Amino acid sequence: MDRPFFLMTDPGCFDVSYRINPWMKPEVWGAEKAAAACAASTALREALEATGAHVETVGAVKGLPDLVFPANAAVVLDGKVLLARFRHPERQGEEPHFRAAFQRLKARGLVDEIVDLPEGLFHEGAGDAIWDADRRHFWCGYGPRSSQGALPAIRRTFGREIIPLELATDRFYHLDTCFCPLAGGKVLYYPPAFTAEARANIRAHVAEADRIEASDEEAAAFCVNAVNLGSRIIMARAPGSLREKLAAAGYALTEVDLAPFILSGGAAYCMTLRLDRRSVSAAQLHA
Ligand code: ARG
Repeated sequence: MDRPFFLMTDPGCFDVSYRINPWMKPEVWGAEKAAAACAASTALREALEATGAHVETVGAVKGLPDLVFPANAAVVLDGKVLLARFRHPERQGEEPHFRAAFQRLKARGLVDEIVDLPEGLFHEGAGDAIWDADRRHFWCGYGPRSSQGALPAIRRTFGREIIPLELATDRFYHLDTCFCPLAGGKVLYYPPAFTAEARANIRAHVAEADRIEASDEEAAAFCVNAVNLGSRIIMARAPGSLREKLAAAGYALTEVDLAPFILSGGAAYCMTLRLDRRSVSAAQLHA
């Protein structure tokens, strides 16, 4: 794969029918929202494809609405897939479907190896293990969903350093809701989502000039949950304040109306899973 390669899920069975995070409001969900969700998912796919990326699709499964968030399915790097184990029974039914999807990708040579997490641990995939392509390490969130005990398995599986970041609140329950490394070494993040120790860890690795802080409003709009490809950032509709901050930092924004998915507590980053990341860049390999 010589271009960015993402997994997305057919949104045909998406709804908000249970509540496993504080953003989810089954009582406001309705049939008209399902149609809007399909349109929103298509718009996100088109925004990815417009950058030259390729998108593969996992089929929808009735009764598994959150299958539309494949970021939670696995951690993927260097062709290795570390399968997730979900904390909540509501999402555990997704595991065999994602496993089968990765087995099909493996049969086609699109990933190389599928690895299981040790028993007794929870880990919700790339939602809580974000590859930093500039620093060449994983930032790993834990607490609300992923177990702290799963972090050594990530280090062992991929052989890369991991920086642990404890999440302080249920509102920002996955690291990808509050933390987004950007090409060039900047980081967009929402400080109140982290424990004091995690904030210190971020400051220790990211120079002040590279830290872009999201406001309450920007974080609640799920704008930190963004897909970054070079100087382009694809995200949910952004408040003007964030547009200005990111333009000043040299990034171009593509905004997609993802309102139906925000009603489930997710947006652009977690509706996708990037499969082509390498720990050593092609430029380094050929040097
Ligand atoms: N309703 C889903 C859940 O609570 C949303 C998941 C969003 N995923 C993410 N990585 N932020 O699990």
